[in-house]
Amino acid sequence: MNIIDGKLIANQIKSEIAKEVEQLRSDKGRAPHLAAILVGDDPASQTYVANKEKSCAEVGMTSSVYKLDARISEKELVRTINFINTDEEIDGLIVQLPLPEHILVDKVIAAINPLKDVDGFHPVNVGKMVLGQPAYLPATPMGIQLLLQRSGIDTVGKHCVVLGRSNIVGTPASILMSRNQSFANCTVTLCHSKTQNLQAICRQADILIAAIGKCEMITADYIKEGATVIDVGIHRVEDSTKKSGYCLKGDVKYDEVAPKCEYITPVPGGVGPMTIVGLLINTLKAFKKEF
Ligand code: GUN
Repeated sequence: MNIIDGKLIANQIKSEIAKEVEQLRSDKGRAPHLAAILVGDDPASQTYVANKEKSCAEVGMTSSVYKLDARISEKELVRTINFINTDEEIDGLIVQLPLPEHILVDKVIAAINPLKDVDGFHPVNVGKMVLGQPAYLPATPMGIQLLLQRSGIDTVGKHCVVLGRSNIVGTPASILMSRNQSFANCTVTLCHSKTQNLQAICRQADILIAAIGKCEMITADYIKEGATVIDVGIHRVEDSTKKSGYCLKGDVKYDEVAPKCEYITPVPGGVGPMTIVGLLINTLKAFKKEF
């Protein structure tokens, strides 16, 4: 069993990005700039945005956070997006999800300039991704592919089972893993809440990507001996032995699944740090105006 050290791989890629940022800063007179909009005070979202700011600083990028009240109207939020869309010194823009219930996520995402959409959520970028055209790829699926690549895991012709069909992870991961490209070229099965015989399908997976959002749902019974397991889940579980009062668990019951795997990502320290790397890569592309 090999533990895929996402933190280590993320740090390696971040130091590669930092070198490029340094060069770009001296060539172009400024560093790439990522803006994040954070609506409301969800603690998990606050942590994610703070981590994105920290990572930008680590690689020498500029970041700014627009903190907006949870009661903001959709119109007002779109006005803020339009303001950032036209700011020539901001290269990438993300709106941290989830948004309060009174705001239509699709409308907000559609308002982002596709050339600054470093989350890769805008319909233009999703469409280009599906067609295999150059586009900003969603950060988590990109991070998963980088983990597979940097760990030298063979994907060609393998059966990849993706659990979960969200727009952010499951659906784009299923598309990217099936493409005719290195570190893809899998036969992909996309499973969801209505899938029948889920355990039997998972047991056929050479590569299992768990993005269901259910804490420790994937037990050893779901795993084929020698599989690669990528755990996208991240859940706060009460833990009085920790200073924070909680610990982090994934969608996979790590202790019983890990012994059956050839490769597995831990939580924390697996996919999480790679999602931020995906975002930094896209921000670099936005700065270089690659699309
Ligand atoms: N919420 C959970 N994951 C993400 C992400 O990748 N981007 C944004 N903007 N919000 C998220």
